Amino acid sequence: MTKIGVFFGTDTGNTRRIAKDITTALGSDAGKPVNIRNASVSELLGYDILILGTPTYGDGQLPGLSTGNATPSWEEFLPALEGQDFTGKKVAIYGLGNQKSYPYEFVDAMYYLYEQFKNCGATMIGAWDNIDYKFSNSKAIVDSQFVGLALDQENQKELTPIRLNAWLKILAQVLD
Ligand SMILES: Cc1cc2nc3c(=O)[nH]c(=O)nc-3n(C[C@H](O)[C@H](O)[C@H](O)COP(=O)(O)O)c2cc1C
Repeated sequence: MTKIGVFFGTDTGNTRRIAKDITTALGSDAGKPVNIRNASVSELLGYDILILGTPTYGDGQLPGLSTGNATPSWEEFLPALEGQDFTGKKVAIYGLGNQKSYPYEFVDAMYYLYEQFKNCGATMIGAWDNIDYKFSNSKAIVDSQFVGLALDQENQKELTPIRLNAWLKILAQVLD
C-alpha cells in the first residue's frame, strides 16, 4: 500500500493539475491522485496520510452540483464522513480560489473539509501563513493561519510552484 493518498475535487481542472504536481513531487510515497467523485470513504481510510484538494465555488462553498459544477464532488461526498473514525490519520488540505473576484469568500471550502475531518478525529496538518495574499475575509483562516495551502491560479499563478514546494517541505517535517 502506498503511504499517502491524494484526493481532489475539481470542475475546471486546476485542482486536479495541482494534485498531479503533488504526486509527482512525492514520487513513490504517494498513490495516483483520485477525483473524490470516484472515491469511497473506505478508500480514504486505507491511508494513514491524506492530502485533500478542493476549489471553492458558489459563494464560498464546496464544489458540487448545487454550485453548478458538472459533476458531484466534495459537497456530495462530505455527508458520508459523518460518524467515521479518522483517529490516527494525518490530513493536509490545499485549496484553490480567486482572491480578486471572491475577496470575502477566499478559499472558504478548505474550512469545510478541515472541520469535517477534524470532527472525525483526524490530526490536521499543513497550516499555511497568510502572506502575500490580498483578500478581505476567509473562513479558512483559523488561529491567524490558513487551515491548508491556499492557491490562486487566476491571480498568482507564478507563486504556485514556490508555495507548493515550501508547503510540501513543511509536510515532510511533520511526517518524518
Ligand atoms: C462560479 C464560480 C464561483 C467561484 N466562487 C469562489 C469563491 O467563493 N471563493 C473563491 O476563493 N474562489 C471562487 N471561485 C474560483 C475557483 O475556486 C477557482 O477558479 C479554482 O481555481 C477552480 O478550480 P478547478 O479548476 O479545480 O475547478 C469561483 C469560480 C467560479 C467560476
